[in-house]
Amino acid sequence: MSPRKVPESIKKRLKKHHQEHLLTFWEQLGPDQQQDLLRQIEDLDFLKTDACVEDFIKKAASASIPADFTAAPFYSNSPCGAEQQQKYAEAIKLGKQLISSGKVAAFVVAGGQGTRLGLDGPKGNFPISPVKNKTLFQIFAETILAVSKKYNAVCPWYIMTSPLNHSETVEIFKKNNYYGLNPDDIFIFQQGTFANFSFDGKILLADKDKISVSPDGHGGSLKALHRSGALKDMKKRGVEFVSYFQIDNPLITIFDPLFIGLHALDNSQISSRAVIKAGPEEKVGSFCIADGKIMVIEYSDLPTKLACRRNPDNSLVFGLASIAIHIINLDFIEQLNAKGLSELKASMFSKRHREPSHPASVSLPLHKAVKKIPHLDCHDNFIVPTEPNGIKLESFIFDALPLASRSIILQTLRGEEFGPVKNASGFDSAQTAKEMMICRAASWLESARVSIPRKPDGSIDCVIEIAPGFALDRDDVKAKQNQICKIAAGDKVYLS
Ligand code: UD1
Repeated sequence: MSPRKVPESIKKRLKKHHQEHLLTFWEQLGPDQQQDLLRQIEDLDFLKTDACVEDFIKKAASASIPADFTAAPFYSNSPCGAEQQQKYAEAIKLGKQLISSGKVAAFVVAGGQGTRLGLDGPKGNFPISPVKNKTLFQIFAETILAVSKKYNAVCPWYIMTSPLNHSETVEIFKKNNYYGLNPDDIFIFQQGTFANFSFDGKILLADKDKISVSPDGHGGSLKALHRSGALKDMKKRGVEFVSYFQIDNPLITIFDPLFIGLHALDNSQISSRAVIKAGPEEKVGSFCIADGKIMVIEYSDLPTKLACRRNPDNSLVFGLASIAIHIINLDFIEQLNAKGLSELKASMFSKRHREPSHPASVSLPLHKAVKKIPHLDCHDNFIVPTEPNGIKLESFIFDALPLASRSIILQTLRGEEFGPVKNASGFDSAQTAKEMMICRAASWLESARVSIPRKPDGSIDCVIEIAPGFALDRDDVKAKQNQICKIAAGDKVYLS
């Protein structure tokens, strides 16, 4: 039975929270559409909505950063001194054991679209490998397959999509026969959404019967892992550690024994990998420590003066960059969800902002982005803005770092593990990512005494792609030294 009249309780609620306009087209809707719109309104958390309007629109709050913070401590990419050397060796051994015993799962956040790269569809379907033009999805899938074979273990893969690309992602995996992986070991699930707001605090409509929403940010993954049943699935399989990474980085080492082992040895709840920033203006978050808690301050929130501050040796004081690679304990994610994860207006740096109704709940702060948001106005005009006209809200995974009892950072070399594809051209583009893939392959081959043709200026004079099935790291290449043919200038080499 479909309601023809709006229930009084809903009318009252909308009035109280100044969102009555959501029912502008009620009379024009069919019964199913009315039901659907009611469901969307009932799903709205008006306490949260009011708080967002208050904080982000009326007060135009920007993200707050702690009053006092310093550079975060970290493990260097290679051990310093005998004691640390022994610890790293122990960590590698432990990491390998954990992978072999199926305790580590891969988890990619892939809610983003490839729009900025000129791709219509999920970013994971962007072709990037230098010789075979494999997509990001295929590279990761082949890596997981190779790790499973190397360690004789089942390595499940959890993929978070968004409403923007979920069904397309599922189709891509089906069409590509799951890239050779067992479909039972791939779990594709959707993240949540937040409503979009106009500058005057009104929730926007996407259509007469649809509230305008956007993906809730990668911080939403902590909730989505729980809600989707992914955590349950992990538990059933005996997974204890989640290897978290972003869809845009083809150089990621998804199963790194050293990183996993150090995380476990140190009883860390969430650990991070870092690189040294390319410069003060690089668009990456910076690792800091405040009140004994490790945290990331996003590039947009770090004042320029601090971003440019240098140590006596000229290195940047806040030069340790987050590359969005984490190991997260399954029980940490469970704990956060059990406490009632909420992403209120809250800034964790201010007690005032803790959610009042759930004193024990855990809040991830919200971050606002001013965007062009297409929507239906109250006069039934579909508006496609040419200028920013509204606000989207997101939470970020790295805001979970200060919630952990312990959190460590392990440095890695940019050329080994960080070549993101973010822009259509220039910095962090497909071209730079491809070049980095070739450079890393050349460096692995050279350390196995394979000669790489170079131009007089030292740049590489061939195109090389190493399939994950051939080698996952430098040592794998060394072990296959004898199978590699001579490489000549101008060659296109694919090692598989
Ligand atoms: C991000 C980090 C930055 C880090 C850099 C490293 C943020 C806010 N900043 O920047 O600190 O140094 O990467 O490359 O994340 N995603 C979802 N759902 C969402 C939003 C994003 O799945 O709702 C996924 C995207 O698909 C992508 C990743 O999260 O894989 C990163 O998102 P993006 O907005 O591209 O972050 P960056 O600005 O590149």
